[in-house]
Amino acid sequence: MKAVSYEGVRKMLVSDHPKPKLKSPADALLRVTTSGICGSDLHMFDGRTPLDEGTVVGHEIMGVIEEVGDAVSSIKKGDRVVLPFNIACGFCYNCHRGNTHSCLTMNPEGASAAYGYAGMGPYAGGQAEFVLVPYADFNCLKLPGTPGDKWEDDFLLLADVFPTGYHATELACVSPGKTVAIFGAGPVGLLAAYSSILKGAAEVYVVDNIPERLAKAKELGAIPVNFSNGDPVEQIFKLRKKNKGIQQSYRPGEEKLEGVDCAIDAVGYQARDDTRPNKENSTQVLENAIRVVNPAGAVGLIGVYLAPDPGAGNKDAQKGIFPFPLADFFDKALSLGTGQAPVKKYNEYLRDLIVNGRAKPSKIVSHHIDIDQAPQAYDKFDKRVYGYTKVLIKFGDMTKAA
Ligand SMILES: NC(=O)c1ccc[n+]([C@@H]2O[C@H](COP(=O)([O-])OP(=O)(O)OC[C@H]3O[C@@H](n4cnc5c(N)ncnc54)[C@H](O)[C@@H]3O)[C@@H](O)[C@H]2O)c1
Ligand SMILES: [Zn+2]
Ligand SMILES: [Zn+2]
Repeated sequence: MKAVSYEGVRKMLVSDHPKPKLKSPADALLRVTTSGICGSDLHMFDGRTPLDEGTVVGHEIMGVIEEVGDAVSSIKKGDRVVLPFNIACGFCYNCHRGNTHSCLTMNPEGASAAYGYAGMGPYAGGQAEFVLVPYADFNCLKLPGTPGDKWEDDFLLLADVFPTGYHATELACVSPGKTVAIFGAGPVGLLAAYSSILKGAAEVYVVDNIPERLAKAKELGAIPVNFSNGDPVEQIFKLRKKNKGIQQSYRPGEEKLEGVDCAIDAVGYQARDDTRPNKENSTQVLENAIRVVNPAGAVGLIGVYLAPDPGAGNKDAQKGIFPFPLADFFDKALSLGTGQAPVKKYNEYLRDLIVNGRAKPSKIVSHHIDIDQAPQAYDKFDKRVYGYTKVLIKFGDMTKAA
């Protein structure tokens, strides 16, 4: 079968690999119809998370079940499914509590597992014609329709970025009427904005400096803020001051609410410096998020901070240790949520929003490609050029549909 493998820094290769075989009676084999390239894949592509050369990558996977083991009872050959990027057992302490992002049994090296990802266990990825699904009863989300229909791209986004964007809003305590600032207008930031709007947030700001991405944020109903035009936190304070309805309803003292209730970091440790965007500044967004939130507000870090990081600028950062404005954070009585998204907590509900026409996350998809184009697509997505925002790889007959 054809698959995309990591072959060293900024080197992805499409080549032939053996088709996976069932290893356990609880496994299923999936024929992939669509697979996404994620911003998280870029950390590996950039050499910022060490990965064995030859590893098949890709953790955003959907398709049709080709074969199931004898112990699989609720999924059968021919079923259309999407896989949460987290691989989980379903029976450990954390899985029982819905924390499938911290499954204790699937990764001997830590408390989380995923397809084709550094440090996430021995699982091949799904930027491939076939992928092996462990504990298929638990890890498959069943889908209606047929491959290539109007939902194909929406459903693919249920593997990661839609539930991840939604989870970011949970981490930052977004609820109806709240004000939200999101840093990063990549797929995760855009879908965090979309999820905030679905939840009924009063105002949603999205910060980035890539014009196509900011335009997409606006199209989704958010207020774009370009950090090339000056300090994004000050820009948000100014925009809020212009909202007369809000300003006129303040009692004395409440004018201190110059920021927002909720902030989301959808960038992570490869954040660029606001004033020198060609330079990396790993804590730029973390600092901005803490500054922009009003006293007693909440911050959600959904962009990743990973270690070891051989490409970091100093020894502490290589170990994942960063300065944190703890005094301001404490003084403002803020709360903080972090970590991978437990996709399975949300994917059924979000699927049903799609099926019932209440959500269309595929608005953020920018490119459909054939697997042979994957190496070039990684490169363009990494450089964020030509509107490369969300790239989906199509397989088999699907390439004609794309
Ligand atoms: N926690 C999870 O479960 C989870 C899941 C998926 C992705 N992620 C992470 O979320 C992050 C975003 O993913 P993505 O797919 O949207 O990636 P992406 O790389 O496409 O998007 C990141 C965006 O941040 C912008 N940016 C850089 N510096 C900035 C700054 N100082 N201020 C504002 N914006 C800035 C970039 O221009 C880019 O548009 C990545 O770190 C990814 O690894 C986390
Ligand atoms: Zn991802
Ligand atoms: Zn588990």
